[in-house]
Amino acid sequence: MPIREIQTKPYTDQKSGTAGLRKKVAVFQQPHYLENFLQSIFDTETTLRGKTLIIGGDGRYYNRDAIYTAIAMAAANGVAKVVVGQGGLLSTPAASHLIRLRGAGGGFLFTASHNPAGPDGDFGIKFNVAGGGQAPEGLTGRIYEHSKTIQRYRIVEGASLDLDRRGMQKLEDTEIEVVDCVDDYAALMQTLFDFDRLRDWFKKGHSLRFDAMHAVTGPYAQRILVEQLGAPQSTVMNGCPLEDFGGGHPDPNLIYAKHLVDLVNSPASPDLAAASDGDGDRNMILGRGIFISPGDSLAMLAAHLHRLPGYRDGLKGLARSMPTCRAVDQVAKALAVEFHETPTGWKFFANLLDAGRLTLCGEESFGTSSSHAREKDGLWAVLAWLNVLAATGLSVREIAQQHWQRFGRHYFARHDYENLSAATAATVMQALADATAHLPGKSYDDYTVALADDFSYRDPVDGSIAVNQGLRVVFGDSARIVLRQSGTGTEGATLRLYLERYESRETALAWETAEALAPLSNIADQIVRIGELTGRKAPSVVT
Ligand code: G1P
Ligand code: ZN
Repeated sequence: MPIREIQTKPYTDQKSGTAGLRKKVAVFQQPHYLENFLQSIFDTETTLRGKTLIIGGDGRYYNRDAIYTAIAMAAANGVAKVVVGQGGLLSTPAASHLIRLRGAGGGFLFTASHNPAGPDGDFGIKFNVAGGGQAPEGLTGRIYEHSKTIQRYRIVEGASLDLDRRGMQKLEDTEIEVVDCVDDYAALMQTLFDFDRLRDWFKKGHSLRFDAMHAVTGPYAQRILVEQLGAPQSTVMNGCPLEDFGGGHPDPNLIYAKHLVDLVNSPASPDLAAASDGDGDRNMILGRGIFISPGDSLAMLAAHLHRLPGYRDGLKGLARSMPTCRAVDQVAKALAVEFHETPTGWKFFANLLDAGRLTLCGEESFGTSSSHAREKDGLWAVLAWLNVLAATGLSVREIAQQHWQRFGRHYFARHDYENLSAATAATVMQALADATAHLPGKSYDDYTVALADDFSYRDPVDGSIAVNQGLRVVFGDSARIVLRQSGTGTEGATLRLYLERYESRETALAWETAEALAPLSNIADQIVRIGELTGRKAPSVVT
């Protein structure tokens, strides 16, 4: 089979967003589009030559085609070995783990996360570096620059591979190893959690309902929860990965997993209900009659993590992305551990994790994970919660109530305004940016602005600087309003407005979130003027 050099013409839009390059499937299907981007990676990250490359995806439409192309290009670009998940499947956290386990030079993760799939849906690719984390901004920037001038790519033509057969195959000089997608990940989970105790918890009749949303976590949940922990088969819903995710929107939140909200509010509620997203890195946690917001989940896990076998040595540090509510800050303070506030996107945790300065981190967008991987990890969060329930003997509600009693409660919501024109989104951002200079000292009801700025971040490990990471209006510890533009959408522009209110008064710990945030929402109307400037009466989605 000949290695061929194919002439190509550059595309100008291969700029990675918050989490890799994400576009409509039809964009990826343009002639040489995928090949150009992959070759730009090989040309920029030349250290992949002679190394191992991990490849997998969330199983969505176009996953297999893309993986065949990626393997044929890896072989033509001098990659020594490709390790690929059987059937082309690897959850994002499992891929991150495999990169670390195999000492690989990097990995290609084919996913558009929770975005809908199918011929009219989205596709994406994330390039993760040695160490398992997503390529940092400097590197994705260089890949983008290269993609704008690329003239040729290298590929093994006519390659014949069987992605469904486990074991070794060969393509030119490159070894291709097809692995079970769950084995190594499940082994890792066993080192972190008390599997005996969890088996016992299920045996005693406790129950979990986990919704894999017809996406990649199905096989992981089946193996770990049902086969290894002995949970009944009915524990896993929608466990079969489908190319179009069953036509659904595999984004575990109050809107797209509303059936779980209804379930926990019914007499049939399990002790814990949870869901994960398309590529298995997000998680949603609910208990009987209660939803645990991701910011709270992070804080509550932080407070209990030392109970779990993999974390008995205590926490090295905690971190959250800037828009995530400040609940975990309170825990960091109480435990006197190192704490960091990073920009949105998991890649900003990677250096701190590599430097051994973080044990647990999270984002408001249903992401939580620990130093066991360099990606967020949906099933990890579910197992962590299960283990906390089993170790404490408490219910989800009791854990939450005890936490709020001790640390106070952060009410939080995110209002998304989707499908705006780029110009409208820019106008809203600019209007608030212009206002920030005059906001400090101004009072709105009981709240006084202490700080208003455009968040920027200096990475404490490598000193790199990220600017324009979101506008924030901070009312001391009592409240915050944050506005930023999404970097993962594929259609129009999305603005995200984040509202956070802190209460420590005994009588203020059990309010409805929407009611608790109503006054702040009114203040946001006055300061950010999003309704007025966009003509929208309400957000598209509230999570
Ligand atoms: C969104 C989330 C962010 C997360 C990213 C990838 O990015 O807000 O926290 O890391 O998806 O899952 P955004 O669209 O806001 O740029
Ligand atoms: Zn995801």
